[in-house]
Amino acid sequence: MILSTIIDVIKGESPMSTTSTLSKKLATADPDQVSENYAKKKKMTVPAFVARKGGKPLVCLTAYTAHVARLVDEHADMILVGDSLGMVIHGMPNTLGVTMEHMIMHGQAVMRGVEKALVVVDMPFGSFEESPEVAFRNASRIIKETGCAAVKLEGGAEMADTIAYLSARGIPVMAHIGLMPQQMNTAGGFKAVRSKEQFDAVVADAKAVEAAGAFSVVVEGVAERLANRINQAINIPTIGIGASAECDGQILVFEDMVGLFPRVPTFVKRYGNMEDMMRDAITRYADEVRDRSFPADEHTYKAKDSN
Ligand code: KIV
Repeated sequence: MILSTIIDVIKGESPMSTTSTLSKKLATADPDQVSENYAKKKKMTVPAFVARKGGKPLVCLTAYTAHVARLVDEHADMILVGDSLGMVIHGMPNTLGVTMEHMIMHGQAVMRGVEKALVVVDMPFGSFEESPEVAFRNASRIIKETGCAAVKLEGGAEMADTIAYLSARGIPVMAHIGLMPQQMNTAGGFKAVRSKEQFDAVVADAKAVEAAGAFSVVVEGVAERLANRINQAINIPTIGIGASAECDGQILVFEDMVGLFPRVPTFVKRYGNMEDMMRDAITRYADEVRDRSFPADEHTYKAKDSN
C-alpha cells in the first residue's frame, strides 16, 4: 500500500496531498470504510474531540511522514506526532534525545498530508518541565511552525500548573499519564503500572490534569482495573495505549502496528508485516541489478529521433 503510493507519486499519478486529490477521494469514499469526519469532509476540532467522551471510540495513530499521514487521515480522528519518532524513525534507544527541531520537522511533514484529523504534536523531553513560561514558548513555537492544533506533554499533578498556563493562553493540551517514557531513568525502564498501591496516585494525576484544563489524556501502560477507574473519574476523553479497552479511544505507534519496528510490546497488535514486504522488495531489486534484468526496456529512455 505505502510502496505503491510512493511509486504513484514518483510517476506523477498521485500528487502530494492537495484539496483536489482529497475531493476526488471523498467523492468515491465508502462512508463505512473511512472516519465519520473524513466522509463528511469535516475537520476534527478540539471541542468535537472532547464531545466524544463516552461515545463512539476515538481512533488515534501516530504518523511521522506526509504520505503515511495522508493514509492515516482517512481513518483516524487524531494523529499524534509523538516523540516515539526518536526510536522508530531515528534509531534512538529511547525518547530522551528528541529535540524541538525533530518534532517541528516531522510535524510539518504530517500537516502536509492531513486534511481532516486533529493533529497533536508531542513536547520533547526538556522543552516544558522547567517552567510554564518555557513550556509556552516551546508549545507556541510548535503550533506556529507546524500549524498543528494541540500539543501533548507527559506528566500528571506535577505538570498541572503548566497545563493550566498553556490552556488559558490558547494552547490545547493533551496530557499523558501512567507509564511515561520520558521518566524512564527515574522509573528504571519502561514499567507498566500494575500494583494496586500505585493506582490512587495515577487516578489523582488524571483528575489534576483534567482540573488544569487538559482536553484529553493519553493513558499508557496501566492495568485494566486502573484504566476503568481513570475513565470513570474524569470527563475528558481517555486515549489508551497498553491500557485495555476501558478507554474512550486507542492509539498505537504506526511503525509498531504495521510491523516496521522489531520490538513488539504486549499491548501492540501487528496488523501488517511491512518489514517482510520491504525486505522482499530490496532483495529482488538487488538480485535484478546484479543479473542485469533491471532496468529492462520499459524502464529505459530511448532517444526521440534516430539520429
Ligand atoms: O510518542 C508517542 O508515540 C506517544 C504514544 C505512545 C502515545 O506518546
